[in-house]
Amino acid sequence: MKFFIDTAEIAEIRELAETGLVDGITTNPSLIKQSGRDFIEVVTEICALIPGPVSAEVIATDTAGMLTEGRRLAGIASNITVKLPITWDGLKACRALTDEGIATNLTLCFSANQALLAAKAGASFVSPFIGRLDDLQVDGMELIHNIRTIYDNYGFETEILAASIRSAAHVEACALAGADVATIPPKVLKSLSQHMLTDKGLASFLADWDATGQKI
Ligand code: E4P
Repeated sequence: MKFFIDTAEIAEIRELAETGLVDGITTNPSLIKQSGRDFIEVVTEICALIPGPVSAEVIATDTAGMLTEGRRLAGIASNITVKLPITWDGLKACRALTDEGIATNLTLCFSANQALLAAKAGASFVSPFIGRLDDLQVDGMELIHNIRTIYDNYGFETEILAASIRSAAHVEACALAGADVATIPPKVLKSLSQHMLTDKGLASFLADWDATGQKI
């Protein structure tokens, strides 16, 4: 499973990129607002830092507007993925951009039927939002399983990019469900390495080592 980082914070991206664990980045208008940065400027910087796909989202809600914005965003760098909402207009824009060779990420996916449409429109990625479904007491992970089954049934190549991830448990469940990508907030990514027994075991090894009086 590929790891994308769900942030527009350059410092966080730079720090995590050093681990070699970052395969791509996703942004959205809310993350751009949080960064306090100019959209085009920050996305340009991210594309220069991370060679993998960088999702940048259109604001227009009509197909023509999405195409204009999508082409402009795609012109920033060769690793831009144009993020479009899964609406009728977004699906039409997806088909047109795909036919032009521009990578697309269909976002705000909350049903398997929407994911089926995204694949048929030629999307590079579809982004099912797990956490926002869980917030409504709907099992977000079931959506990942259902999309995986549908895509495998028909050999669709659209990648399942699990989004709205809130916890380490979400990441593990996505990997078990066969998501192609998980886009993970930096804090959650860092939490993946944590285990109480790792900390306890390390403390005890270090204490025993100190007692030997040796040095490496
Ligand atoms: C990423 O592509 C999505 O925009 C993001 O994961 C949404 O996360 P949220 O539901 O925590 O806002």
